[in-house]
Amino acid sequence: GRCVVAVDGPSGSGKSTVSRRLASALGAQYLDTGAMYRAVTWAVLRYGVDLGDVEGVAKVAGGLDLVIGTDPAAPHVRADDVDVDADIRGPEVTAAVSAVAAVPAVRQLLVARQRELIEAAGRIVVEGRDIGAVVAPDADLKVYLTASHDARAQRRSLETAASVDDTAADLLRRDTLDSTRAVDPLQQAPDAVVLDTTAMGIDDVVARLRAMVTA
Ligand code: CDP
Repeated sequence: GRCVVAVDGPSGSGKSTVSRRLASALGAQYLDTGAMYRAVTWAVLRYGVDLGDVEGVAKVAGGLDLVIGTDPAAPHVRADDVDVDADIRGPEVTAAVSAVAAVPAVRQLLVARQRELIEAAGRIVVEGRDIGAVVAPDADLKVYLTASHDARAQRRSLETAASVDDTAADLLRRDTLDSTRAVDPLQQAPDAVVLDTTAMGIDDVVARLRAMVTA
């Protein structure tokens, strides 16, 4: 039957790995909303639009042909017919994504798309920063993953092959950017289950969440 799980948390909290594995275990679809903000950012950079040009950024988002796969075994993103899976994880996009995600018109557009995808799937694990609070406030389970700054930097640097120091600095920069602007995307829904994953392995986290869904 229908089952919507919202997984929110900061970068390096384990969101992506946990959400994909949980979706597979539940026989559900998987939606990476960060990949959508990253794909719009990729297009903004590709079309040479200035990050400070709010109307230009909104226009790129509105005109973009964004295709996002929801199979947890093989998530993929296409933007204007280009396979952008690798590029959207690169340093250029990562450095610019917070600014693009701060544009209200971009958020409105992507939140609407996310709601459509959730509706169409019915059974889905959705990861992001505002899923439980904004995108799917009626989700069946809301999870908020946290971890210490050090643990998050360690995990991130393993994924990207960048040094732990550089990664820690980038995390701090993005956390600050995301949290000091008018609309902080990272929101903890009042009814979210908070899980500190600092000392937990991925398997433990997935097992805990699975038990909560079936309970
Ligand atoms: O890679 P990381 O876990 O740091 O982030 P991500 O999930 O790929 O999201 C990249 C960026 O998109 C975040 O730093 C936010 O600025 C933005 N984002 C957002 O505003 N709202 C979401 N639901 C998801 C991501």
